[in-house]
Amino acid sequence: MIINPKILVVDDEPRFCHSMKTLLSSQDYEVKTCFNGSDALQFLTEETFDLVLLDIFMEDMDGFQVIENKIDRKIDTPVIIMTGRSSADTAVKALRMGAIEYLKKPFETREMFSSVKNILNQRALEKERKAAESQSVQRRKLESLGRMAGSIAHHFNNQLSAVMGNLEIALEDLPVDAGYRRNLFQAMMAAHKATSVSRQMLQYLGHTSGRFMPTDLSESCRKTLALFQTAIPRGMKLSVDFPDFGPVIHADPIQIQQVLTHLITNAWESISDTRGDIALSITVVSHEDIPSRCIPIDWQPRDIAHACLEVSDTGCGIPAKDIDKLFDPFFTTKFMGRGLGLSVAMGIVKAHSGCITVDSEPGSGSVFRIYLPVTGGVDFAETF
Ligand SMILES: Nc1ncnc2c1ncn2[C@@H]1O[C@H](COP(=O)(O)OP(=O)(O)OP(=O)(O)O)[C@@H](O)[C@H]1O
Ligand SMILES: [Mg+2]
Repeated sequence: MIINPKILVVDDEPRFCHSMKTLLSSQDYEVKTCFNGSDALQFLTEETFDLVLLDIFMEDMDGFQVIENKIDRKIDTPVIIMTGRSSADTAVKALRMGAIEYLKKPFETREMFSSVKNILNQRALEKERKAAESQSVQRRKLESLGRMAGSIAHHFNNQLSAVMGNLEIALEDLPVDAGYRRNLFQAMMAAHKATSVSRQMLQYLGHTSGRFMPTDLSESCRKTLALFQTAIPRGMKLSVDFPDFGPVIHADPIQIQQVLTHLITNAWESISDTRGDIALSITVVSHEDIPSRCIPIDWQPRDIAHACLEVSDTGCGIPAKDIDKLFDPFFTTKFMGRGLGLSVAMGIVKAHSGCITVDSEPGSGSVFRIYLPVTGGVDFAETF
């Protein structure tokens, strides 16, 4: 359904336009009027209308010319033709030119309302159909891009294994003081880095198999934290609020640790000076409490409790224009960034049937939340 549809009434008789506006506005339509063809075209070019009620015989430019010009300008607003001086030929000509319906003046209000309503309903259905079609084209495109990226990453991985294997043999056989040992070593490092990009691409695409098992989320996260606690700068505070046990999720603990590592690293990097807070928490929430604006966009929670791992920081925050791009592979705003941390995190979370949400504003820090289904399809009420 179109909310408050917008209708343009075009007739060289101002009183007729006025009464049409009063009638249509009473049905919650937003109505604009104009008294000649050139004004009508200007309105249609500058604004989007859902329907035009168009008089045929007007002085400067008749209704036929308006329709013709409208088509030339690729404006697809449907038209209902209205005229008093009607003949069957006029009606047929208008319909042939693209008008959707024909009203003969004087018409009954009921008849006019019913035509307007029918056409608006058809337009709403058409809009929905087009939106669904464009979504499905978009999905197919993404799937095929994903397949292509996956096969390139696999191919690269195989070739890089051969490169690294041969470099290793060469390095082993080379005298310790050989001049070009350093060059081979650097080639080896570069190959390692390239492998890590291919591996992360495969993770983003969900092409890696995990070792899934019942996993205590708090325990897994505590293990990751041990690495950070010693490295974090003095002025930066890392606070943690995890339950002693659980929640238990069906997960690959290594991959979950990877997700947390990417989130904490980003939080850390977002704090430009060495002063700032990073707070981590784990809670259990009902599926109804998971925001609908999440990644993947078509994710639907199962009707069970979900673990929520939250990482918030008091860092630089994220501009609105970047929020939709955060999880795209290779999107980065950092000089040395690769733009893979969040896309890998998203691939892992997706493989765990979960989702990610982001709340952030420039200057106000960021909050990333990971939602993962609690093991065993436990009903929310049973977890407390
Ligand atoms: N906590 C955060 N605060 C501010 N910006 C963030 C935060 N997390 C992510 N971003 C933004 O999202 C972008 C993508 O993050 P992502 O982790 O995918 O890549 P990266 O950190 O740039 O590079 P890397 O591959 O090394 O992780 C970042 O460059 C940054 O602009
Ligand atoms: Mg990162």
